[in-house]
Amino acid sequence: MSKPTVLVTRRMPAAVEERLRRDYDARLNPDDRIYSEAELAEKAADADAMLICTSEKITPALLERLPARLKVIATFSVGYEHIDVAACKARGIMATNTPGAMTEATADIALLLILGAARRAYEAQQLVRQGQWKGWHATMLLGIDLGGKRLGIYGMGRIGQAVARRARGFGMVIHYHNRKRLPADQEEGAVYHPSLESLLRVSDVLSINAPSTPETRGILDAERIALMPEGAVVVNTARGDMIDDAALIAALKSGRLRAAGLDVFAGEPALNPAYLNLPNAYLLPHIGSATIETRDRMGFMALDNIDAVLQGRPAPHALW
Ligand code: 8YV
Repeated sequence: MSKPTVLVTRRMPAAVEERLRRDYDARLNPDDRIYSEAELAEKAADADAMLICTSEKITPALLERLPARLKVIATFSVGYEHIDVAACKARGIMATNTPGAMTEATADIALLLILGAARRAYEAQQLVRQGQWKGWHATMLLGIDLGGKRLGIYGMGRIGQAVARRARGFGMVIHYHNRKRLPADQEEGAVYHPSLESLLRVSDVLSINAPSTPETRGILDAERIALMPEGAVVVNTARGDMIDDAALIAALKSGRLRAAGLDVFAGEPALNPAYLNLPNAYLLPHIGSATIETRDRMGFMALDNIDAVLQGRPAPHALW
């Protein structure tokens, strides 16, 4: 029996590609070049499944051009703002994601951002690497304590809760806003705020952990930043487009906000160049899920979804 065909739009970890080669007629992308919509349509000809990343936009126009035999589009990500799920459903194509696979790794990076921003890690690195470190002094590179500070978590799903667990270990007091209040056993003492505005008023540090949707895009704007305590810190491991960059940059420049830690950017890998000149912006290149173990787990979870659909079983992480 011939193996089903899977179009794999980006290079995958070795163990994931090995499983792909074993179980499928896998169309891999060893050069990791991002395909245009026309190339995607062409390369997907006769494919039974597609394994994509957030770099591939699944639009109604592209879906029109995909083969009738295509049964599943599995994204190697928890976020799925790049997939028009309703349009997939209308075409009878299953869409799946990888929730849970990157929770801990992303929460680790949120803490790295909080520490990096609060303790001025970028400036400190620069001082050492540029040979400017002239010796210890009592007022050099002073940051702020995390202990006793209020951490506002916007989006208390898996990743938000994992950030809360870690931050408690640093002595932070957890507040959160979520569409739905968590049951008490999951809240673990965190203080619920029915609105983002109410959360912002108490957030000495704000961690963004909500998905990007039409409702959340640009949500951290000048007006909402103005609600935050003087000298607050903002970190984002979710999606860059939830922040109004001009507003955040202005607040970092004026000192209204002390610092920011950002792993994601609107329009990444391009980012607003003003961030590059801000010593109080601690910047990372979207490495939230970038561990060996996590990327393997994401790939295997995506393949479990593909296997299930192609074998006529319900996908473990179906989006519709
Ligand atoms: C990925 C992510 O690195 O899972 C997500 O939503 O943003 C990251 O884990 C990336 O988007 C891969 O597609």
